[in-house]
Amino acid sequence: MGTLKIGILVSGSGTNLQAILDAVGEHSLDVEICIVVSNVPNVGALARARLAGVPHKVISHRDYANRELFDRVLVDELRQAGVEWVVLAGFMRVLTPTFLLAFERHIINIHPALLPAFPGTHAQKQALDYGVKFAGCTVHFVDAGVDTGPIIAQRVVPVLDDDDEQRLSQRILEQEHQLFVEVLRWIAAGRVRVTTEPSARPRVIITPP
Ligand code: GRF
Repeated sequence: MGTLKIGILVSGSGTNLQAILDAVGEHSLDVEICIVVSNVPNVGALARARLAGVPHKVISHRDYANRELFDRVLVDELRQAGVEWVVLAGFMRVLTPTFLLAFERHIINIHPALLPAFPGTHAQKQALDYGVKFAGCTVHFVDAGVDTGPIIAQRVVPVLDDDDEQRLSQRILEQEHQLFVEVLRWIAAGRVRVTTEPSARPRVIITPP
């Protein structure tokens, strides 16, 4: 099996991107980062890509009349860069079927909650407001819904009585960084499989090494 070619989509500070860059730099993760694309200019994630010497680019959604046109440009850019798997690392745009079909079952996302609880934005605040005693993060395949795709892996953290949104988010983020890299290792090793039983919800099986 050749080295996995990934493209990483970002919108913000890029600490998850950094975890991937570090793992690749330390040779503990065998993937090629073909390109990092941000839909927002001047974000921390772009600076991290630049520092690591990884190809990076801004494609602003604001330059396109609708999601469909934006997604077509994104797909073209990723394809030209040779991307096989797309990694959403804090990418804050919902993708259209155009994008989803172009990289079908080859798109993963990280979400700061134990899905299916608390999808969408401000997941950590949703968890705090609800009063759950455990929170965490989820890496999942991306489908047409918001944070609804088949779950690949999760990590759990406790919610402490004196937590605020920032403290809980930080505790979850530390687990995100480890989990994302771990899942990419599994994918790179060809160990992640999605079941396709008719009329059953697809589930993810991690095959043994
Ligand atoms: C993370 O909490 C991730 O789960 C969510 O957006 C945040 C991105 O953080 N999707 P960063 O840009 O990787 O620091």
